[in-house]
Amino acid sequence: MVKRPLVIGIAGGSGSGKTSVTNAIYEAFKDHSVVVIQQDFYYKDQSHLEMEERLMTNYDHPLAFDNDLLIDHVNHLLQRQGIEKPVYDYAAHTRSNETVLIEPKDVIILEGILVLEDERLRDLMNIKLYVDTDADLRIIRRILRDISERGRTVESVVEQYLNVVRPMHNQFIEPTKRYADVIIPEGGQNEVAIDLMVTKIKAILESNGIV
Ligand code: CTP
Repeated sequence: MVKRPLVIGIAGGSGSGKTSVTNAIYEAFKDHSVVVIQQDFYYKDQSHLEMEERLMTNYDHPLAFDNDLLIDHVNHLLQRQGIEKPVYDYAAHTRSNETVLIEPKDVIILEGILVLEDERLRDLMNIKLYVDTDADLRIIRRILRDISERGRTVESVVEQYLNVVRPMHNQFIEPTKRYADVIIPEGGQNEVAIDLMVTKIKAILESNGIV
């Protein structure tokens, strides 16, 4: 019988530190098999749209994501089958032509602003986390990151934050905190929370006979 991998959802606002929490858990299982699936890579394909139209997309709304494909891929990984994960280009605002072959692993981490918003995704998760970080820290991190890694200007980041990111956070992301099993204050800096999560994950893997 196929042993079902463990699925961990890591949600939280933009710049909250989801990536650091994800990396810390990933590092703790280096000897093990963990695969990370970023919901960002499952933004709907926009290659057929002009750049002007891509710039008008609301990337913080649940409808921006191709959750059908994401769910299909998670189900494949749960069946211990590989997937062709899409690759997302933040500067071009669309998927690139390449995909990356991802092999099935014992632990699947699903990371993204809205991974707890879709009931179908929640139903696939064994553990649901919400990384809770103050808005001032999140916007500072976002400005620094978007300029250095995503080809943006300060003005564009601030405008997008005030017009889209902030209202969508309050409307769609923050309310998903209620679905979390554990709320982690301050993301990757919270060593106690990370240690607790790693211990819990190991215990579940052992009791399921995976390790
Ligand atoms: N986004 C964007 N332009 C795109 C696609 C996405 O600006 N073409 C932004 C969305 O506005 C959304 C953010 O990307 O708010 C999602 O990524 P974010 O959660 O900020 O990054 P992670 O590294 O996944 O998380 P964290 O900062 O918590 O580590």
